[in-house]
Amino acid sequence: MQKSPSLKIILTEWYRIMKSKRLILPINRIVRECRDVNTYFFSHQLEAKPGQFVMVTDYEGGEKPFSLADSTTAEFAITVKRVGQFTSRLFQKKAGEYLALRGPYGSSFFICPHRVLLVGGGYGTPPLYFLTRKLLEAGSEVIVVNGARSGDDLIFCEKFRALEVNYHNITQSGCLDRKGTAVDLARELMNTIKFDFIYAAGPEPMLKALQEIVKDTEYQFLMERYMKCAIGICGSCTMDPLGIRLCVEGPVLSRLQIEQLSEFGHYHRDATGARIYFNNGQGFHD
Ligand SMILES: Cc1cc2nc3c(=O)[nH]c(=O)nc-3n(C[C@H](O)[C@H](O)[C@H](O)COP(=O)(O)OP(=O)(O)OC[C@H]3O[C@@H](n4cnc5c(N)ncnc54)[C@H](O)[C@@H]3O)c2cc1C
Ligand code: FES
Repeated sequence: MQKSPSLKIILTEWYRIMKSKRLILPINRIVRECRDVNTYFFSHQLEAKPGQFVMVTDYEGGEKPFSLADSTTAEFAITVKRVGQFTSRLFQKKAGEYLALRGPYGSSFFICPHRVLLVGGGYGTPPLYFLTRKLLEAGSEVIVVNGARSGDDLIFCEKFRALEVNYHNITQSGCLDRKGTAVDLARELMNTIKFDFIYAAGPEPMLKALQEIVKDTEYQFLMERYMKCAIGICGSCTMDPLGIRLCVEGPVLSRLQIEQLSEFGHYHRDATGARIYFNNGQGFHD
């Protein structure tokens, strides 16, 4: 005889379906962060945690995941890098135009109330800003490394400087104070300071390089995989060999989970499921 699902499973499924309902919201304002990066603000209380993401569509083709760059009782924000068709369309939107969003989805960062290091690269930095605000509320001592290819690509500098954190910029072009990658600077800091926890978000080759230099400190990384349903049904975001669904068990993964993922830092999959290998050549800031 077939066993009926437990109440916990039924409630979990019901909760996921409820969260799949789309919110149709006007863009409240758009802030240009740099050449190809915009932040979109929406006046709505989302009740989200740092690390979580929303699925966004304009009903003109495609629905894409974006991390929350911030979320308060009054508004929430996503920061978007222009890369392809969908994000280019978002760059043509104006304040007052509507987008459809669902979420928040996925796991969130653990809040460690001690001395922590945050390492962000490219558009990985905005979700770390939301995290920083929550860490400061919890009384953590926060050191932030923000890396980019060039000064023109560095985002959120002023926002971090406005918070009570020890903040460092670094660019691969060396046009500002430091030349190198976020991982170079993280290594230097780790050699002199004992951190209780490390958080990172950014291109996967950056996360892989960081993982290789972290010795015994616990960490969490925000990861990305191709997502379609975002509610754990389609399987497009699973990671080898554990079958972790990044939209449900992630996008924030722990050290223990990441160490077991053979595909981490090596390949991801496109919309068809075909493997795309990371180019681990020079530099990695998107
Ligand atoms: C959990 C998560 C959080 C993300 N947060 C952000 C963010 O805060 N800001 C931001 O700019 N981008 C974020 N992304 C990536 C963003 O979803 C893609 O850049 C965007 O979908 C590109 O769409 P496009 O049509 O403009 O470009 P395309 O030309 O379609 O794609 C460019 C690249 O984006 C990635 N991508 C495309 N579609 C998807 C998809 N459905 N799911 C995952 N990756 C995709 C692929 O690697 C692809 O090579 C996030 C992705 C994930 C999974
Ligand atoms: S996107 Fe469908 S299972 Fe994760």
